[in-house]
Amino acid sequence: MMSEGLVTVSYIVATILFILSLGGLSNPETARRGNSFGISGMAIAIIATILGPKVTSLTPIIVAMVVGGGVGLYAAYKVQMTEMPELVALMHSLVGLAAVLIGYATFRDSEVQFQGVEQTIHSIEIYLGILIGAVTFSGSVIAFCKLSGRIGGKPLLLPGRHFWNLAALLAVLFVGSMFINTESGVGGMFLLFIMTGIALAFGIHMVMAIGGADMPVVVSMLNSYSGWAASATGFMLGNDLLIVIGALVGSSGAILSYIMCRAMNRNFISVIAGGFGTAGGTVVSGGAAPQGETQSISAEETAEILRNAAKVILVPGYGMAVAQAQHTVFEITKLLRERGVDVHFAIHPVAGRMPGHMNVLLAEAKVPYDIVAEMDEINHEFPATDVAMVIGANDIVNPAAQEDPNSPIAGMPVLEVWKANTSIVMKRSMASGYAGVDNPLFYKENNRMLFGDAKKMLDEVLVFLRKSA
Ligand code: TAP
Repeated sequence: MMSEGLVTVSYIVATILFILSLGGLSNPETARRGNSFGISGMAIAIIATILGPKVTSLTPIIVAMVVGGGVGLYAAYKVQMTEMPELVALMHSLVGLAAVLIGYATFRDSEVQFQGVEQTIHSIEIYLGILIGAVTFSGSVIAFCKLSGRIGGKPLLLPGRHFWNLAALLAVLFVGSMFINTESGVGGMFLLFIMTGIALAFGIHMVMAIGGADMPVVVSMLNSYSGWAASATGFMLGNDLLIVIGALVGSSGAILSYIMCRAMNRNFISVIAGGFGTAGGTVVSGGAAPQGETQSISAEETAEILRNAAKVILVPGYGMAVAQAQHTVFEITKLLRERGVDVHFAIHPVAGRMPGHMNVLLAEAKVPYDIVAEMDEINHEFPATDVAMVIGANDIVNPAAQEDPNSPIAGMPVLEVWKANTSIVMKRSMASGYAGVDNPLFYKENNRMLFGDAKKMLDEVLVFLRKSA
């Protein structure tokens, strides 16, 4: 067993490790180290908590850890890279559920007796903990269902939805004021049930109203909520570490939501208000339909163009993840670089289906970090580029964002591949991307379409490149 003092010291060490972890995760080069810091911090936090003076029986904790850890390990082994956002949404829902259950347990805990102001503060902690937890729980379950295709990505826009949201907020405030003035007991429990019902309905309504294209922001927003829910749990349990770590997760999730909103040119309030985008593949209305003919190209011709280029920029997108083409992409990159071609990767902040999706895949294929550039660093280089090769990307290279003020993605910053001497788009068909909007890039005069699965086509390109060695 550990003394209270030793537990506090362990919590401080764990907090420092978590902060170092966040710092490490902000860059692909240091991400692995960041992960190790996070794992060590969590191990110290768990050991210090279960060996601390507040725990009276280890058996239920060990049973819960074996069951929970087993499920977690199985899920982590089984999940595909493309299913990561769903898994993250599901995990957020568990944090929310834990906050709700701990809130009810704390309310029922007759051992904790407070008086006067302390009692009011304790009641507010319980009320807010359950409120944030319930919104996070139901919102994350709906986000999971939408991301995994169990329910459609189309926004559900109820008549007078803003009125319903406002009414829910007022009702929660009203019930809250009654709860704070109620003695603990059946009356208080009844008020908590009412608030939990409203909060669950609000979480469902909020995420149902959000369109497919805004889902990445929603996932990071729910990540932020789950942090605040953990922080509220920390207040209820009097656990300083949970308060600090919850606040770290809450604020980093909020910063990530802001960065993603900026990358998609979306205003945070309009994301929450909902209604933009549909499920991938279906074209949404708004914006002019692109005109003209597309020009196809073969793998052999692609190899020929690449061979003759001095500067190439590769733009990976969601399709590269689906095709698992990253290793072939790197083989081609190595071959071109050996032959003196200047090759760089351009990464859009919301390429793929989760933050850092492309960086993870490229790191897995061992692409050197110094040739991987963020959108802002490389966008000005396209006019001086011979070939911009788009590998399974669509929305992030859509010129309609700049050229068509009526387009649903108008104003979203995009990679300007069409400014290169030649752009080559690799995809299987003319289907739209995640935001469901047409892409005029495909019809540009200097654009060529290499139709087919990205891995299969790149394997063929690699064969032709090797032949010409
Ligand atoms: P998308 O716009 O979704 O386009 C991906 C393209 O890949 C599709 O048009 C598809 O066309 C093609 N594709 C699919 N499988 C392929 C395969 N096996 N081989 C070759 N091509 C394949 O992707 P993006 O350009 O990366 O943009 C990301 C979008 O997702 C944005 O709208 C973003 O807002 C959204 N989003 C992002 C995130 C984060 S955080 N990154 C999370 C959720 C959603 P075909 O079907 O014709 O092949």
